[in-house]
Amino acid sequence: MYKLIPNFSLKYNNSFGLDVAANYWLSIGDQEDWILAMEQYPHLAEEKKLIVGGGSNLLFLADFDGMILSPDFSGYSITYQDGDSVEVEVGAGVDWDEFVAHCVGNGWYGAENLSLIPGKVGAVPVQNIGAYGVEAEKIIVRVNGYNFGKQTAECYEHDACRFSYRSSLFKEQWLNQFMVTSVVFRLWKQGEVVTGYGDLDRTLRDMGGPTLANVRNAVIQIREAKLPNPKKIGNAGSFFKNPVVSAEQAAELAERLPGLPVYPQAGNLVKVAAGFLIDQAGWKGKKVGRAAVHDRQALVLVNLGGATGEEILGLSQAIQQDILEKFGVVLEREVQVVC
Ligand code: EPU
Repeated sequence: MYKLIPNFSLKYNNSFGLDVAANYWLSIGDQEDWILAMEQYPHLAEEKKLIVGGGSNLLFLADFDGMILSPDFSGYSITYQDGDSVEVEVGAGVDWDEFVAHCVGNGWYGAENLSLIPGKVGAVPVQNIGAYGVEAEKIIVRVNGYNFGKQTAECYEHDACRFSYRSSLFKEQWLNQFMVTSVVFRLWKQGEVVTGYGDLDRTLRDMGGPTLANVRNAVIQIREAKLPNPKKIGNAGSFFKNPVVSAEQAAELAERLPGLPVYPQAGNLVKVAAGFLIDQAGWKGKKVGRAAVHDRQALVLVNLGGATGEEILGLSQAIQQDILEKFGVVLEREVQVVC
């Protein structure tokens, strides 16, 4: 059964907690709902569409003059399994961390490093979420959805999704035109945990070793220590992507900034930690109006209460400008700005 609400406040549906509204909110539980809603309210087809999962990666600059589409497709089903692996189809509306907990609870390996990332399953392939050395694409087999542009259901196998760092075909080419309905993940019944990233190894040693459950618990502990809880303080996780620069530029930066974390990539490129650069430039904890740089993680911008999207964007632009001037590095937003 679909639910249509006009003049909908989005305050509790964007993790920055921005006080904005949309012309309509339409939540649908299956594709039939979409067809029914369009038959009953044909004028909705003219509305601009914004597909929202958990609203945890959006920065609204104003009210949204259009319709928010919330795909609430629920449920999990095992579509294949053998002695080594299991494939699970998960509805786009399922809470991502609930699914990770389900995997770890069943002893399935692959999703544990992605614990506690806010949002719903539908956003996972769009954004190719990643953390602690693992990107979601590693466990995505295929993505099912509805393409509004082509007005047809489509299924993309892993290689057709063109996954890259925090991006995919669904973000580059089909943003707000392709609604993910379900994602098929492959998890492993035996596996090796990935523990090489940052504080993870040390936290796991303190916990008594790298078991599957410990990896989840360690990731939760680290995230809770560093990242502000959006239920308490508005934020959208990393505001910027970690920039990828030439190996030469990375070497120059590392000489200037001892301790700069660098992650070598293919093609003589190096990813550097944006949080470190922003921190070194003196922005950590800085407040500008009601927007601020988080005091424990400089990559995260926060709403101190009552900030507007413009205020947060203004702060982010000042940071981008400063990082360009000080270090010659272009910072790209990870967060999607909605005008
Ligand atoms: N750092 C500082 N100061 C800061 C922030 C970071 O010196 O204020 C240093 C840290 O000490 C560390 C390095 O920079 O040596 C990297 O920081 P961290 O491990 O916290 O990770 P990150 O690069 O800031 C990325 C992802 C996060 C993900 C973590 C863990 C991006 C844009 N962000 O952050 O993803 O949780 O790695 O894997 O790639 C998100 O996408 O919203 C997100 C939170």
